[in-house]
Amino acid sequence: MRKVPVPFPLITLTGIGVDDGGRERRAAVAAAGCWDGPVRRLLPPDPAAADLAPEDLPEVYAYPPDPGRPWVRVNFVSSLDGAVSVDGRSGGLGTPADKAVFGTLRRLADVVLVGAGTARAERYRGARRPTLGRDVPPPIAVVTGSAALEPDLGLFTDTFVPTIVLTTAAAPPGRRATLREAGAEVVELPDLAVATLLGELERRGMRRVLCEGGPGLHGDLIAAGAVDELCLTLSPLLAAGDAGRIAHGPAGRAPEGMRLATVLEEDGTLLLRYVRAAGRDRRIRRSGDVA
Ligand SMILES: NC(=O)c1ccc[n+]([C@@H]2O[C@H](COP(=O)([O-])OP(=O)(O)OC[C@H]3O[C@@H](n4cnc5c(N)ncnc54)[C@H](OP(=O)(O)O)[C@@H]3O)[C@@H](O)[C@H]2O)c1
Repeated sequence: MRKVPVPFPLITLTGIGVDDGGRERRAAVAAAGCWDGPVRRLLPPDPAAADLAPEDLPEVYAYPPDPGRPWVRVNFVSSLDGAVSVDGRSGGLGTPADKAVFGTLRRLADVVLVGAGTARAERYRGARRPTLGRDVPPPIAVVTGSAALEPDLGLFTDTFVPTIVLTTAAAPPGRRATLREAGAEVVELPDLAVATLLGELERRGMRRVLCEGGPGLHGDLIAAGAVDELCLTLSPLLAAGDAGRIAHGPAGRAPEGMRLATVLEEDGTLLLRYVRAAGRDRRIRRSGDVA
């Protein structure tokens, strides 16, 4: 039988349930909808730095200093049984720690890339807090072939910086005009292939890319070999229902390896960060290309 190596600190530190002194306080904090830590760092094993406060998170989630190209970080929350939503939205899966990480990731990003299905389902609005070291929040960039986005979405009416709509000239002109009138920067690209999308972001100097989904766009990024990092929150919930998982898209690709980089835990919520496996260079593939 093949032996699967398990990192020692993960075993010891996930044998929790003993130290529950903070449970009551954490429950109160959770009920209030905010999180003040501490969380335990399970990996990398550094007992001296095991407890983290929210203000430590930017260091944990720092982007590589100069990746030389857009670095694509994807962030999702999932139930234990793999549901990506409850009643069509992800809010029912969030926990205080997940919300803290979600906010931190936005504050580290140059741009938040999102598919139109998510913007519609989650009633997206603009990011609120400035990117660290800047005066303004990162813009949301929405990918849509149809340009079928309601102009009264918070994306257009409740944002500090104009939302970028990434579409093509094939989208109905009336819809594109409506979104421009609503304040969006509508960009007509030759196509919406992943290489084209990332090329446009790079052209704008946006290298710290945070993709917040949804599963359709994530599936395209995976198929193109473009995911550098996945931040996955596992919520301690069983959801069942008919929700999909965190990616769907073209079949037939061999699964690609990712390396576990960080594991944080807070009251049963696991905050996992995986990065592209060592030795696997990113080569963006167009749909249909052979890797
Ligand atoms: N749990 C989580 O963390 C999380 C995160 C995000 C979303 N979600 C959930 O996921 C669900 C939405 O799933 P979804 O798959 O519809 O989301 P999606 O990937 O955000 O949206 C898919 C849509 O985005 C556009 N799109 C994305 N990539 C494209 C590409 N490469 N080329 C052309 N168009 C592209 C298309 O829009 P057009 O139809 O306009 O052309 C497509 O129909 C919601 O229930 C949401 O709550 C959960």
